[in-house]
Amino acid sequence: MRLTERIRYVGVNDMKTDLFERQWPLPYGVSYNSYLVVGEKVALIDTAAAGFSDELLANIRSEIGDRAVDYLVVNHMEPDHSALQVVIREQYPDCEIVTNAKAASMIEGYHGITDNVKVIKEGESLPLGGVSLQFFMVPMVHWPETMVSWCPEENTLFSGDAFGTFKAVGETINDSKSGTFEEYKDEMTRYYASIVGKYGGPVQAALKKLGGLEIKRICATHGPVWENSIPEVIALYDRLSRYDADHGVCLAFGSMYGNTRQAAMALAEAIRQRGIPCAVHDLTAENYSFALADVFKYDTVIIGSPTYNAGIFPPARLFMQGILDRTVKGRKFMAFGSFTWAAASVKLLNEMAEAAGFEILGEGLTFKQGYTEAKFDAQALAALV
Ligand SMILES: Cc1cc2nc3c(=O)[nH]c(=O)nc-3n(C[C@H](O)[C@H](O)[C@H](O)COP(=O)(O)O)c2cc1C
Ligand SMILES: [Fe+2]
Ligand SMILES: [Fe+2]
Repeated sequence: MRLTERIRYVGVNDMKTDLFERQWPLPYGVSYNSYLVVGEKVALIDTAAAGFSDELLANIRSEIGDRAVDYLVVNHMEPDHSALQVVIREQYPDCEIVTNAKAASMIEGYHGITDNVKVIKEGESLPLGGVSLQFFMVPMVHWPETMVSWCPEENTLFSGDAFGTFKAVGETINDSKSGTFEEYKDEMTRYYASIVGKYGGPVQAALKKLGGLEIKRICATHGPVWENSIPEVIALYDRLSRYDADHGVCLAFGSMYGNTRQAAMALAEAIRQRGIPCAVHDLTAENYSFALADVFKYDTVIIGSPTYNAGIFPPARLFMQGILDRTVKGRKFMAFGSFTWAAASVKLLNEMAEAAGFEILGEGLTFKQGYTEAKFDAQALAALV
């Protein structure tokens, strides 16, 4: 697919993997994007995940025919992009790998490749004859070796996982169809929350570093090529990485026998009656990445959990730990849930929220045994939000 005469898309859609990183559901698939930059020399930017070698090689051939790939630029070593380095080397034996020192040692560690590797430094350029690439380190977006490649002649940023999103790409590859950004926004937020969420600081540093570039095209490793929605895409990543959120509630709960669930539904209804958006997630029915996306979207987190073996019900505990792992900042917090003989879940959740520096709204509410409106004053709790 020709993005411009000198920039070609040769990535693949993955519609068969059920879980990305064996953790995150892919209801709309995912793409592993790689690109060719075609000058007098040809550079391939990143590869794809294991299992896509035939497709990647066919895509390359359909763009450049019998010409060779002269350089393989390695921006990021996570295996969703690096798995086919050996395949590329076998197909194009003279192909020189161009990357930074940290990635070079990972290439050796994963693939045993040490020969014909060109190690470049921050700001260095690779001339390709009529077109060039310049490299900028963006450590921890999303691994320590991560860098981006900038093509000044095409004002194109090969941004790695930054600005990436779940959901496979459409036929046009780019966002030329109106509404593309809106179509991807939720999956981009979920991708960010699940995968990049811990690295808000490094994402902010990268945005500052790249702020001076006059970017006309963002070629990320997952999702559409951004040409028409660049301000929106950058604004979303900027907001997410500052942990900035709208006023609203992510209410996530787990419940074994339905009592905490009934309380969750009553509380969500009471919150909505006050005109406050409230997204509800059943942590026993769906992967917690969907709720995590709403933690990044809204300023208030409410978790429902029964007491379980003197602790938090495991799905709720996993979710809360997921929030802490991502060093989410500046949220308001509330917990509730049923118990039978000795309540513990709400107290423990509040302690975790305090450790995260969240503002605790009231003390939350734990109720004994069956749910009733008398035991669970949803209106009073909603008034605290
Ligand atoms: C495996 C298991 C462990 C439990 N551990 C505790 C406990 O340590 N303390 C307590 O008060 N209740 C405990 N309970 C009781 C639950 O908190 C109680 O059944 C609650 O009403 C369940 O809420 P739910 O209907 O939302 O699932 C436990 C229940 C189960 C099934
Ligand atoms: Fe990655
Ligand atoms: Fe990736």
